[in-house]
Amino acid sequence: MKVDKNRLPIHIGFIMDGNGRWATKRGMPRKFGHKRGADVLEKIVDYCFNIGIKYVSVFAFSTENWKRPKEEVDYIFNLLRDYIRKQNEKNTNQRQKEIEQKNIQIHTMGDLTKIPKDLYDEILKIKTETNDCDKFVLNIAMNYGGRDDIVYAVNKLLKANKKEINERDISSALYTADIPDPDFIIRTAGDVRLSNFMLYQSAYAELYFTKTLWPDFKPKHLDKALKNYTKRNRKFGNVN
Ligand code: FPP
Repeated sequence: MKVDKNRLPIHIGFIMDGNGRWATKRGMPRKFGHKRGADVLEKIVDYCFNIGIKYVSVFAFSTENWKRPKEEVDYIFNLLRDYIRKQNEKNTNQRQKEIEQKNIQIHTMGDLTKIPKDLYDEILKIKTETNDCDKFVLNIAMNYGGRDDIVYAVNKLLKANKKEINERDISSALYTADIPDPDFIIRTAGDVRLSNFMLYQSAYAELYFTKTLWPDFKPKHLDKALKNYTKRNRKFGNVN
């Protein structure tokens, strides 16, 4: 990778868009795009891990995605189930864990009470088992919405009888309480919007949009995005 490693983002968010279009373009049902999208995600997560990114957040299922046909919703949850199960198996196989030295912590954001119960149980298991892994955090947005995240945080603060709140209170009540804000958000497939992804946390994130569809997104595309990121001047409201 030909980018300045010292200027890499600590936390990257991915809005993995374009799975459906990728499949439709090939005359295949949309679910093939999601399957390919899940495979691409594994490769990109590995790549991020290898180049030293510490946190990756991915938009796997939004609070609005329930409007899709049930078959597609079920299929996406199946992919999530397969992924989490695979991670759980890796984790219980101590030898494999030692060989891989991956140390991936799985984190989620979103209201998990609405997702299928067996997936919920698998997620609780992997979250508990990987809680002390500190090399890399994969934060998966499931039944997630940025506005819902803020409402969740405010309700949490109300329940704690807070009378007056500040920005730090909200940050630490969000689903991402233990995770720093994203430095860089990449959206694939051409649309130029955040679509309710990490609204509070993205206040100072650098945004990057590419026409490449998520199932076509490769490490070389990420390199290009990162090269662009490393040239940006992040001012955080300051003068230079
Ligand atoms: C957006 O493409 C993609 C989704 C709503 C689902 C993303 C899910 C995965 C990549 C798989 C599961 C994730 C994990 C963590 C294993 P779209 O369907 O909106 O595409 P379109 O805009 O072309 O229709």
